[in-house]
Amino acid sequence: MRPQVLVVDFGSQYTQLIVRRVRENNVYAELVLPENINHYLENDNLKGIILSGSPFSVYDKDAPIVNTKQLAEQFPVLGICYGAQLIAFQWGGVVGRGDTREFGPSIIKQFEKQDPFIHGIPLPWKVWMSHSDAIKKLPEGFEALAYTENDILAIFKHKDKAIYGVQFHPEVVHTEHGSHLLARFLFDVCGCEPTWTPAEFVQEQEEIIRNLVGPDEHVVMAVSGGVDSSVAATIIHRAVGHRFHGFFVDTGLMRKGEPTEIIEAYKHIGLPVELIDASNEFLSALQDVTDPEQKRRIIGHKFIEVFEREARKIKGAKWLGQGTIYPDVIESAASESKADKIKSHHNVGGLPEKMNLRLIEPLRFLFKDEVRKVGEYLGLPDTILKRHPFPGPGLAIRIIGEITPEKVKLLQEADAIFIQMLREHGLYDYVWQAGVILLPVKTVGVMGDSRTYQYAVALRAVLSTDGMTADWARLPHEFLAHVSNRIINEIEGINRVVYDITSKPPGTIEWE
Ligand code: XMP
Repeated sequence: MRPQVLVVDFGSQYTQLIVRRVRENNVYAELVLPENINHYLENDNLKGIILSGSPFSVYDKDAPIVNTKQLAEQFPVLGICYGAQLIAFQWGGVVGRGDTREFGPSIIKQFEKQDPFIHGIPLPWKVWMSHSDAIKKLPEGFEALAYTENDILAIFKHKDKAIYGVQFHPEVVHTEHGSHLLARFLFDVCGCEPTWTPAEFVQEQEEIIRNLVGPDEHVVMAVSGGVDSSVAATIIHRAVGHRFHGFFVDTGLMRKGEPTEIIEAYKHIGLPVELIDASNEFLSALQDVTDPEQKRRIIGHKFIEVFEREARKIKGAKWLGQGTIYPDVIESAASESKADKIKSHHNVGGLPEKMNLRLIEPLRFLFKDEVRKVGEYLGLPDTILKRHPFPGPGLAIRIIGEITPEKVKLLQEADAIFIQMLREHGLYDYVWQAGVILLPVKTVGVMGDSRTYQYAVALRAVLSTDGMTADWARLPHEFLAHVSNRIINEIEGINRVVYDITSKPPGTIEWE
């Protein structure tokens, strides 16, 4: 995959958004760290460079930089916020330090000149500012295209070269026509082609995989029923056919009926996935364990052990498929300051070295919403594409304290009622993730004429976009009442239901 646009990551919180907005215009863009940019410039496909914002000031000693003069010799350049200030600074303009703090909406009422970059944008125009430094004087050869109503330079360009700068953030939704503005840069300034589509992506990945995997070599992969691993597996399977071997490990800690449902869904789309029932192994390894981190460790090790045992049965297994996605790659690249460093998936970490397997990660440049679009294109059913996230350790981290088969059963039943009712009431897709937690607490109740002394459960339902932050879902009271009644009436062993109203932060989504 060769990008048409590079977004230089100077560390702003919005850099990923810039890439997403570019890609929403069907132009493939990648994020690069400033120190790595030279490795990416020898690419015939490359048509433009976007410089991101940054928490730094151009005057800071450690401020991240690229040579904008050199880049502009070869490509159109668009600087956003800090990126715009860096252009102004390097070309000899004046950047005022910290004296024009501006956070929030600002209005552009008129354009100083017409230009293809701003063509078709209606006025007045609301843009989103977030800066303290500001450009006070443009360098020689540059001109202003717009100021805000507070007289802040909002848009500028070089008179003869394709160099643009915007002080506001076109990538955030609060800026009106932000995507239109980026489209003008991409198509009218850079001459990009709108070729980034799921169909193109799948075709290209299939070719890459076919070229990588030798004719006698096989690919093994653990799939979870979630969107990432399922989409990745489908692409790999399309590329190598019968040499793809998928495994679904039933840890015994899944939702009620889920392993069968997932295997059925795979069957339906013709993806060869073998169900490995290892529930007894997992449950006995977890006996008497109460510490959450120890539960995770045990499950992680067990998972590798079980998967390795199965994978070793495949003669010619040389490759390990994984559903790693772009945010994982960016995260680890940024933290290690190396673009080529990959975070290996926790579930099968360590296995590639041990079994001498090489990795195939067809989704490592996709955002989650793009993975879904590719999944739709591939014809994957909603049971996979819209499935709520579910943690690898499964119900083990939703049974607080010691895990027993009886507790797993109780929790599975309660969880099944909650999820089924979310679906029936049209709330499943509204909620980002939901589940039930079995508490290590028994409480007193009355059923009919007799006193009960049984477990309490907590319902958890959150709204989120990426799981990094989350808010508790304001589910209707009547709905919650109904769920609570059904759980208590139908499940012998649970006599109290509470609803978790903690957001993240300060809480986490899971309780353990
Ligand atoms: P927390 O609880 O950290 O969860 O707010 C954020 C998201 O991550 C999932 N999660 C896990 N997923 N292994 C996983 O594969 C884990 O150990 C794990 N712990 C939490 C959680 O379900 C939520 O979607």
